[in-house]
Amino acid sequence: MNALLEVEGLHAGYGPVNVLDDVSFSVGEGETVALLGANGAGKTTTLRAISGMLKPRGRVRIGDHDATGRATEKIVRLGVAHVPEGRGTFAPLTVEENLRLGAYTSGGKPDLERAFTLFPRLEERRHQRAGTLSGGEQQMLAIGRALMLRPRLMLLDEPSLGLAPNLTRELFKVLRRIKEDEGTAMLVVEQNANLVLEFADAAHVLETGRVVLSGTADEVSADESMRKAYLGY
Ligand SMILES: Nc1ncnc2c1ncn2[C@@H]1O[C@H](COP(=O)(O)OP(=O)(O)O)[C@@H](O)[C@H]1O
Ligand SMILES: [Mg+2]
Repeated sequence: MNALLEVEGLHAGYGPVNVLDDVSFSVGEGETVALLGANGAGKTTTLRAISGMLKPRGRVRIGDHDATGRATEKIVRLGVAHVPEGRGTFAPLTVEENLRLGAYTSGGKPDLERAFTLFPRLEERRHQRAGTLSGGEQQMLAIGRALMLRPRLMLLDEPSLGLAPNLTRELFKVLRRIKEDEGTAMLVVEQNANLVLEFADAAHVLETGRVVLSGTADEVSADESMRKAYLGY
């Protein structure tokens, strides 16, 4: 199977500071891949380098396209939707306006029903300003907005950050549903390694900008250093 996303020998950073050091991995069509690692390991930087917010060295291939360092709009048109760390919804706009804006970015027609079916709470709050939503609702909105792009691949940066455990489980149920019903591939950055490894197909662990462990989710869960460092058993 040809990978949907292929990252090869990626180097990226901020000004003179290099963060990523030779990062390589791939995400297959419909596959869920977890990107794990401690705070500051370079997970967010990796997503930024893929989605065109940083200019990396190395190679980012999306489908048949060389997407290395392409502008974010181009990456979006290739079917990649990035849900950034801290959500990035537009606080003064309502839920519905945020969703419509998501579709506008891709030139598509907004499929609000789709977002409302997956997240009924968003429908109840469709006329409420995004800035007044709870953290969990804002995360749902950010994901709903990304779905308006009808992505082939979603890049999710710490979707569970700041959410209560029950909301986190609810959110992962919806992600699983998106994966199973629509075959959307996902690259998920998570601190909550236990939870994401239950649902991912493969995982990669970053340490100071390098991939130090890669495998199927089962292999990574079973790895002793991984268990000690991140899984707590
Ligand atoms: N905008 C920035 N400018 C300078 N350095 C940054 C910036 N964002 C992140 N960094 C640095 O890059 C490294 C990796 O950060 P990041 O990719 O955000 O890690 P993670 O998402 O794994 O917690 C850290 O040392 C961090 O301080
Ligand atoms: Mg981060």
